[in-house]
Amino acid sequence: MELFDAIGSRRSFRFLDPERPVEIEKIQKMLEAARLASHFGNNNAARALVVNRATASEEQLDCLPSPVGGYQIQQAPIIILWYIEGRAMDEAAQRLTELVDVGALGYGEGRYDELNDVLAPIMTAASENMKAPGLVDMDLGQAIAQATLVAIAEGLGCCCQGSANWQRVERAFSLPESCRIVVAQTVGYPAESREAGGQRPRLPFETLFQYNAMDTPFPRSAAVVEELKEKRMIQAPAKLPGREEEIEALRLKYNLPRNGML
Ligand SMILES: Cc1cc2nc3c(=O)[nH]c(=O)nc-3n(C[C@H](O)[C@H](O)[C@H](O)COP(=O)(O)O)c2cc1C
Repeated sequence: MELFDAIGSRRSFRFLDPERPVEIEKIQKMLEAARLASHFGNNNAARALVVNRATASEEQLDCLPSPVGGYQIQQAPIIILWYIEGRAMDEAAQRLTELVDVGALGYGEGRYDELNDVLAPIMTAASENMKAPGLVDMDLGQAIAQATLVAIAEGLGCCCQGSANWQRVERAFSLPESCRIVVAQTVGYPAESREAGGQRPRLPFETLFQYNAMDTPFPRSAAVVEELKEKRMIQAPAKLPGREEEIEALRLKYNLPRNGML
């Protein structure tokens, strides 16, 4: 699948097939993509604990992000707990040195002096603050985004899940104190159609993006939009005809309550 198509075909798939196991190699491909994502200072704090429903303990499954997760967590063959390892920040200077060593950062003969005298001390001094939600969560988000596109290209579906009580999950999975779960991601083969009812609504392009000045919307070329439609990055918007019937059929198939939200 082409990248543009994968971006356009990505949805939050909320109905996954609980009976169809996911090949572990496909999860590995997602994690390989996450590993290659960009991290500030190359900190590598973005981590993941993959939970296989088939082999996880009852106690572990019980604490997964319900009430927010609800039926989605119950149906997912795989749940990826994406977390930040704060201790990675303690090695910030080391990671920067590696970047200089491989020729990715800095230039000139004095580059190590500048690294050691200026940049590394700044990163080291800031390391505690950098463990808090902020840039490091963006790193994790980028990793998840890349992993998600790989999942889509591999025919899988995913949905991110929040929780009001990550501490409970962290305890159940024995995460060290230095680790902080940010989001759980359900992964499996979609039980719904690949369109999943169509591309979700977004605020208008012109509302979201500006050019040079806050009162100047970024110019949106109709020709570019047409090109992206051809490449399937921009797809037919929700709600596609037949979506209600599809949802109701899924509800009946999986014996879900008459009304459900998450
Ligand atoms: C960080 C994050 C957390 C989310 N948490 C939930 C959640 O707890 N439950 C849920 O059903 N969807 C959750 N979502 C999915 C969004 O609601 C979804 O992205 C949005 O509805 C847009 O739909 P789309 O992803 O299909 O384009 C989350 C998405 C993100 C990025």
